[in-house]
Amino acid sequence: MIRSEILARVFSRHGPPIAVLTAYDALTAQLALAGGADALLVGDSLGTTVQGHSDTHAVTLEQMCYHTEIVARCAGQTPVIADLPIGTYATPDQARNSARQLMEAGAWAVKFEGNPGGVAAALVAEGIPVMGHLGLLPQTTTSFKVHGRDAEEARRVLQDAVQLRDQGAFALVLECVPDALADSVQAYLDIPVIGIGAGRSPHGQVLVIYDLLQVPPRSRWPRFVPTRYPAGGDFLLGIIRTWVGEVRSGAYPQDGESYG
Ligand code: KIV
Repeated sequence: MIRSEILARVFSRHGPPIAVLTAYDALTAQLALAGGADALLVGDSLGTTVQGHSDTHAVTLEQMCYHTEIVARCAGQTPVIADLPIGTYATPDQARNSARQLMEAGAWAVKFEGNPGGVAAALVAEGIPVMGHLGLLPQTTTSFKVHGRDAEEARRVLQDAVQLRDQGAFALVLECVPDALADSVQAYLDIPVIGIGAGRSPHGQVLVIYDLLQVPPRSRWPRFVPTRYPAGGDFLLGIIRTWVGEVRSGAYPQDGESYG
């Protein structure tokens, strides 16, 4: 099957709910794939998860291409969507040039935040599949809170969603919006909404894989992180602390853990 057919099959409103996870490198890609994720998002959240910044502003297109190349190498027939980082899609021309580089690095589609004039249409016309991203926009927001609570903000999200769909976007990420707004957006659109902190009505869900695994250990997580699952960070920390302790006490290596 060719990529466009796989993308259409995975991101169908008529198929099962869609599970998307971020991946940034071979480890996260292989974990997400082994766990059965339907698609991998090389999110610019790598600015925080991988690079240790407090936001995504420092992420460059070159870095996104590097991580996309690694994830695509591992992904096989699973769709890889790559984020256009901030400052790389201000105009249709700039977006075309940036998106081409991500596609050459192995992306099957690109995602960008908001609804900059004519960008989605320009990319679709170029044969580059587009995933939209509305609601909380981490690249530009100044407040990491629920978006679309007031009527005007909600109206704008709905209007942008319809415009992105009309320009040919194949799916839309909706981040941190009230359930009722996600419900209306999903009801208005014939493309799948992929929610993150947007309740149950979206046809799919996306999570940052570090959040899902709860790594590294943290005392607070966003509300949409299922902390009822075991915390991977605590488990991993336990292994590392045990090993460090055994090195210090001389208990590692044990018999059979060397070449004799
Ligand atoms: O960059 C990212 O990981 C994202 C997801 C939070 C949707 O855009």
